[in-house]
Amino acid sequence: MAKAKVRYVCSECGGVQMKWMGKCPDCGQWNTLEEVTVQPAAAGSRNGAGLVGAPEPISLPSIPTQPSRRLVLGNSELNRVLGGGIVPGSGILVGGDPGIGKSTLLLQMAADVAAQGGQVLYVSAEESAYQLGRRAARLGVDDERLFILADTVLEQILDRIGQMKPTLVIVDSVQAIHSNANTSAAGTVSQVRDCTAHLLRLAKQENIPLFLVGHVTKEGTIAGPRVLEHMVDAVLQLEGERFHAYRLLRSIKNRFGSTNEVGVFEMGEQGMSEVANPSELFLAERLPNASGSAIAVPMEGSRPLLVEVQALSSATAFSQPRRTGNGVDFNRLLLVTAVLSKRVGLNLSTQDVFVNVIGGMKIGEPAADMAIAAAIASSYRNAPVAADLAILGEVGLSGELRSVGQLSRRLREATKLGFQRAIVPHNALRRKSDDIPSDIEAIGVHTLGEALDAALVK
Ligand code: TYD
Ligand code: MG
Repeated sequence: MAKAKVRYVCSECGGVQMKWMGKCPDCGQWNTLEEVTVQPAAAGSRNGAGLVGAPEPISLPSIPTQPSRRLVLGNSELNRVLGGGIVPGSGILVGGDPGIGKSTLLLQMAADVAAQGGQVLYVSAEESAYQLGRRAARLGVDDERLFILADTVLEQILDRIGQMKPTLVIVDSVQAIHSNANTSAAGTVSQVRDCTAHLLRLAKQENIPLFLVGHVTKEGTIAGPRVLEHMVDAVLQLEGERFHAYRLLRSIKNRFGSTNEVGVFEMGEQGMSEVANPSELFLAERLPNASGSAIAVPMEGSRPLLVEVQALSSATAFSQPRRTGNGVDFNRLLLVTAVLSKRVGLNLSTQDVFVNVIGGMKIGEPAADMAIAAAIASSYRNAPVAADLAILGEVGLSGELRSVGQLSRRLREATKLGFQRAIVPHNALRRKSDDIPSDIEAIGVHTLGEALDAALVK
């Protein structure tokens, strides 16, 4: 028979602890833990006697499926990434490299909620209230419903949240706070996990949405958001290149919306502004009629984006020619250059090939293969790709062009930016489901060779 266990139950909040502590880690009260002996139920005597106060099983059809009312933000890019606004009681982790703009974006979001009449508690564990005040002044944020709490002690933070019951809580960052009940240092896995668990529990209990900032570090010493990803409802990742002004906010996980949504922002003098038409931004500095440039239309989440792919091929000084890719998958670059050599007959074995996606964008989709191939061939032959042409298609090993998903949406995005023609895999034209917009001329091709003939200006 199993032995009786000793547990410690808080007389204030009912929290159960494995060991005795002076202060209850759940509610922060002192000297409230009392020893109790838990008798294990005898084997075979499971008759429901131990279920007083336990959750009842619910028959599936009687579970309400209406989503709870979301807090809809003024910032539509943020709304998009969140899946249509902030779900009350949800826990959202925002990760990203230091200095990428997490605090800036969240302070702006806080101001957004405050402007709608909500009370926001911004817990700043890294920066002083003064520093936040300076940032707020720079952003032009001065709402009196926005409260800054410069504190690092979890128990005190929990008390404040319980007392204030704000509309929204932001904790910046979860690595910088610590629980007094845990003896390890702030930022360690056990601290970060404990703090997050307690904050999330309170957020669920009070139905307050909670944003947690988490750092991503290369060293394993500091707990990155990885440990936390399972605990929270949504994980957002802020990305960008140091030398580019724009930032992408990706949703990596979202229990209340679709993942892989992307919001595009631009970091400026007054914080992050939404970029309503990112394709326009990415194509702004394109030189028409320059060789080695082609337009691809990859999908970022549910949204197609037009991006410029540039390539340069130049005679190599080495016995082995070099291939360098920026923003493209390296293996796909090798595949495309091999197909260009073997099937189209470009003599790339004597050429170094550099490929770059403009603006620091990253393309992960095979749908951009054809555009990459066109950019390389254009540079090699020193013939520009027609300026009004978007190029879509996956390149197969036999040099054939394979169809891509969501063609009509990609083409529609291209027409919005004034592209009048597009090279598409021939198959796509035959499929009825893909309605090609009438204001774009879709040129169906079977092979990479045909595509290059159509794309390059002689
Ligand atoms: P920050 O939000 O502090 O980044 P994180 O919280 O992710 O570490 O932003 C830091 C950078 O952003 C810093 O280099 C200054 C720059 N910045 C602007 O360019 N414009 C602005 O309006 C603000 C507030 C910051
Ligand atoms: Mg910060």
